[in-house]
Amino acid sequence: MKYYFAPMEGITLYPLRNIHKEMFGEGVDKYFTPFVTAAKTYHFKKREQRDILPEFSRAFADYRTEVVPQIMGNHAETIIWAAKKMNELGYKEVNINLGCPVATVVNRHKGAGLLEDPDRLDQMLYEIFDAREKENLPFDISLKTRLGMSDEAEATRLMEIYAKYPISELIIHARIREDYYKGAVRLDAFNKAVDTYKAAGGAAPICYNGDIGSINMTSKQAEFANQDADRLNGQHDGAGLDLAMMPASIANDSFNLMIGRGLLTNPALVRELRGGEKLSAQELSIYLDRLYEGYEEYIPEDRNVIFKMLEHWAFIHVHFKDCDKYLKAIRKSRSKGEYKAAVRDIFSSCEFI
Ligand SMILES: Cc1cc2nc3c(=O)[nH]c(=O)nc-3n(C[C@H](O)[C@H](O)[C@H](O)COP(=O)(O)O)c2cc1C
Repeated sequence: MKYYFAPMEGITLYPLRNIHKEMFGEGVDKYFTPFVTAAKTYHFKKREQRDILPEFSRAFADYRTEVVPQIMGNHAETIIWAAKKMNELGYKEVNINLGCPVATVVNRHKGAGLLEDPDRLDQMLYEIFDAREKENLPFDISLKTRLGMSDEAEATRLMEIYAKYPISELIIHARIREDYYKGAVRLDAFNKAVDTYKAAGGAAPICYNGDIGSINMTSKQAEFANQDADRLNGQHDGAGLDLAMMPASIANDSFNLMIGRGLLTNPALVRELRGGEKLSAQELSIYLDRLYEGYEEYIPEDRNVIFKMLEHWAFIHVHFKDCDKYLKAIRKSRSKGEYKAAVRDIFSSCEFI
């Protein structure tokens, strides 16, 4: 079974990828970048392009296979253009985003918006794989999808379409677009979709995604998380999915697993799932310090660096028992000094769980 760090816009950028890889990355097989837009202008946004430059993948023995850039687009030509550019940078695999639920994306028929019109999606995939074959392009193409737009029954047709193409992997977030990232994952529908995919001749490995990593938030903690992470729009609503509780078909070796928020909550989650040591307070403290330094190089102002760290604290705080007062201080910090002092306080005053 392989483990992947999920793409998360604004979060799984290269500072996090490198630091996580160095400290906890031993059992993490691939890191997916947040999506890079394949625009009609045939230009990448500067910020997005910077994130995939190989020179920033210093922690990876072979970024070509360990880092997978994700493409967001809705035209075969632009997606193929973007994939070629990524391949020129060395990447051996690109991933196509067929799952982003954000309204501005969906309304432009991108991300999960592509699931709305299966015929068009089919045509787009046909053109992409046709171009790859005709031009003999040497890279793999994987897909990251949901089970549908507004009804999980849509998965049947989608899986039949995916089965037609030589994709390298099918990553399925076990929700529909209208779920965003909330509510219980649709495990039955996921299993059914996998059966459909295989029955239709689909041969690519399947990767399960959704809610892996058990967390137990108190309602107070959840409130804190919601205040700071509203913009993350996908929040654990207190119920993470414990791998041990998952149906055997998912928790066994037949699927690879992609984890997003679970790894933000517990950066050592993959190590733990592979039978390794539990996260310690000391390593978490070092991890947070290193992230701060990483973001400092990446973002100019203290306040913005702190804002980035708060995105992590929205998940990390579950490790500290009865810590409201200390979390508040972290949230209120406005300078590096204040932030560091507040973080020192929480580590020295609260029980680590
Ligand atoms: C803030 C945020 C940003 C995300 N950005 C992306 C993205 O750029 N591309 C993508 O395919 N999925 C994105 N996702 C979805 C995650 O990759 C993943 O599918 C989702 O969080 C469910 O997995 P999890 O429960 O393990 O977190 C994002 C999710 C969140 C919460």
